[in-house]
Amino acid sequence: MDERPPRILALAGSLRKASFNRKILRYAIEGARAAGGKVEELGPEWLRLPLYDGDLEVSGRFPDDVETWRRKILECDGLLIASPEYNHGISGVLKNAIDWGSRPPNVFSGKVAASFGITPGAQGTARSQMNLRVCLAAINVWVVPKTVLVPHAREAFDDAGNLRNERQIQELIALGGALVAAVLSGVARG
Ligand SMILES: Cc1cc2nc3c(=O)[nH]c(=O)nc-3n(C[C@H](O)[C@H](O)[C@H](O)COP(=O)(O)O)c2cc1C
Repeated sequence: MDERPPRILALAGSLRKASFNRKILRYAIEGARAAGGKVEELGPEWLRLPLYDGDLEVSGRFPDDVETWRRKILECDGLLIASPEYNHGISGVLKNAIDWGSRPPNVFSGKVAASFGITPGAQGTARSQMNLRVCLAAINVWVVPKTVLVPHAREAFDDAGNLRNERQIQELIALGGALVAAVLSGVARG
């Protein structure tokens, strides 16, 4: 058994400075750290990659920022993903980053992920989570079965920027912990 703490990358699939999804990421990060994970939060700059274009792959070599992104994913054990919902699917920036990482050799293969999201609407990104799971299954990522859906984003935070609903906070913290437990279980090995 590997003695190192699980290395977790946390990211939101949004470039927006005031992203609601980035705001709730910190609760899942807290849970992952409490469970012993070594967590690094990746800011939106990590998703500012060129649009996927096969012509940018030259002799198995990718653009420099894509190479950096791919290396980052390769070196982690697990991913915490706060996924917005755009037209019932995941955001273009998140899909683009996944697509770049999936090119052979697929750097996502054998990783574990937990995903969740928040939206101003009533469904709390339910459809985006389903869509994300389909993409992650395609690239051999093990996804923690539970998710956390936070609806009504505009009313969800207090003036200090904290989620008002304690149950949602506890569920996000628990999901971060569940990701670390899944990595430690070795579910994705072999
Ligand atoms: C192009 C576009 C499509 C959207 N489609 C949906 C949708 O299908 N369902 C939904 O709940 N919200 C939808 N929204 C609203 C987003 O959930 C909202 O903008 C959210 O704040 C984005 O996440 P962020 O705050 O983390 O950037 C859409 C927003 C955009 C810009």
